[in-house]
Amino acid sequence: MNKAERATPRTIYICQQCGRESLQWLGRCPSCQQWNTFVETRAVAPVAARGSSRPAKPARELSTVTVTTQDRIILPLNEFNRVLGGGIVPGSLVLVGGEPGIGKSTLLLQVSAMMTAIHNKVVYVSGEETERQVKLRAERLGIGGNGLFLLAETDLDTILEQVEALSPGMVVVDSVQAVSISDMEASPGSIGQVRECTSRLMQWTKSSGVPVFVTGHVTKEGAIAGPKTLEHIVDVVLYLEGEHFSAHRLLRCVKNRFGSTNEIGVFEMKEQGLAEVANPSQIFLSQRGNDPVGSVVVPILEGSRPLLVEIQALTNPTSFGQPRRTANGIDFNRLLLITAVLSKRVGLKLGNQDVMVNVTGGLKIDEPAADLGIALAIASSFRDSPIDPDFAVVGEVGLSGELRSVTQLERRVNEAARLGFKRCLIPRSGARVMSVPQGIQIVTAATLREAVRLGILPGKQDAADLTI
Ligand code: TYD
Ligand code: MG
Repeated sequence: MNKAERATPRTIYICQQCGRESLQWLGRCPSCQQWNTFVETRAVAPVAARGSSRPAKPARELSTVTVTTQDRIILPLNEFNRVLGGGIVPGSLVLVGGEPGIGKSTLLLQVSAMMTAIHNKVVYVSGEETERQVKLRAERLGIGGNGLFLLAETDLDTILEQVEALSPGMVVVDSVQAVSISDMEASPGSIGQVRECTSRLMQWTKSSGVPVFVTGHVTKEGAIAGPKTLEHIVDVVLYLEGEHFSAHRLLRCVKNRFGSTNEIGVFEMKEQGLAEVANPSQIFLSQRGNDPVGSVVVPILEGSRPLLVEIQALTNPTSFGQPRRTANGIDFNRLLLITAVLSKRVGLKLGNQDVMVNVTGGLKIDEPAADLGIALAIASSFRDSPIDPDFAVVGEVGLSGELRSVTQLERRVNEAARLGFKRCLIPRSGARVMSVPQGIQIVTAATLREAVRLGILPGKQDAADLTI
C-alpha cells in the first residue's frame, strides 16, 4: 500500500482542545465550548478501515478461544513492575504522561537499558532530543548502551520501517507529540497527528507482539493534544507526577487493560536517575516535626498499597472579611464538610477562623478514610494542643458527627504498626470486624467528638475556654 492510496482526499476539522471532529469549520466547539480551536486536517482513513485488504474474520464462540498466557517481562525495577500490574505485557502499548521535565525520558531510558539485559535489542526513538543529548543522559545514568539502538527521527513511517528491520524486544517513542505522519497535513503535536500516530503504533504493537512505550506531555492548562485524548486508544496509561521542588516521583496507573488501576510506584530522582523507594511511608513521614500541633498521620490506600501520610492543618483568626478555607492535596468540598461538622457537632467555633489543610510530600488524597485525620489536625491546631504523636488515625466522618468504618482497615492498621506507631484511632464500627494486628493498640471512637477527646492531648491554652 503506498502513501497515495492510504490518504483519502477528505478534509475534516478537529478541535484541538477536546478532539471533536466536524465536517465544517466552527468558531466555537459544541463539545468543550472553546473558541477558535478547530484546525483543518486532511483525514486519513482510520486504522481499522485501512486494513480492508485483510480477510474478514468470522465470529468465534468464546469457549473455543484458547489463550496462551504470555509471560510478563519482569524488570529489575519492582516499583515499575507493580504499576504495570506485575511486569510488561508483550504486545501492549503503554502511554507515560507527565509534565515536561518530570523525568519521563529518564525513566524510559533506564527501563530500556534494563530491557537490553533481557532481550538484547531495544529501540529508543527520540523525536525531541538529538543523539548527543540522549547519549549525555545515558552517561549520567551510567548506561553503556549495548543493545540499545537510538533513532533520532520524527517520521512515523520511517520509524516503523527501521524498527521492523531491527526486530527489537521493546520500543520507546519519546514523545508522541514529536512524531508525525507525512500523509497528514496537520502539524506534529496536533490532535489529529497524535491520535493517528498512536493508532498506528497500537496496530504495530498488536501485530508484532513487541511492547511499545510512548511518552506524552501534559500541560498545566489541560491536555491540548496530550495524553488525555489518547487514553482510550492505548492499553495502559501511566502518569509520572511530582513536585519539581521535591525529588519524589509517583508513577500512577490510571488505566490498565491487564491489571488493576490506581497502583502507584514511588521513585526518587537522584543524580544517577530515578531510584525506587521501597518504603515510601518512611519518606513521607521523615520530615515530621517534634511538636505535632495540627499534624496527624493517616494510613491511606494507594491502589493495593497502604501508605502513611502526614496531614497538617493551621487555623488562624480571620483578619479581614470572609474566613478562608485552603485545601492542598485534599478535596475542597470535603474540607468544608469537615469544618462544618467540627463546628456543629463538636462545637469548635471555626466561623471566624481561616483554615488551611495540607498533605505533605505533594500527595493527593481522595478517599474519605482521611476525614478523621483532617478533622483532628484542624481541631489540634485550633486548640493549639498536639495530637498524641504515637497515634495514627483513620475513619470517615459523617454529617451527624458519627465515625464510619473504611475499607481495608486491617491493612492500614498493619502499616501503622509496621512503622512503629503504638496506637491507632479507628471508628468503633470498624473494630468489630477486624482482627487486631500485633504490636499496636486499637483505640476506638463512635463519634468525632469522642475522637477529639481521645486523640488530642491537654492543651497549652487554659482548659476553661476549651470546653466542648
Ligand atoms: P527528563 O527525563 O528529561 O524529563 P521529561 O522527559 O519528563 O521531560 O528529566 C529531566 C529532569 O530530570 C531534569 O530536570 C534533570 C533531572 N535529572 C536528574 O535529576 N538526574 C538524572 O540522572 C537525570 C538524567 C535527570
Ligand atoms: Mg523528555
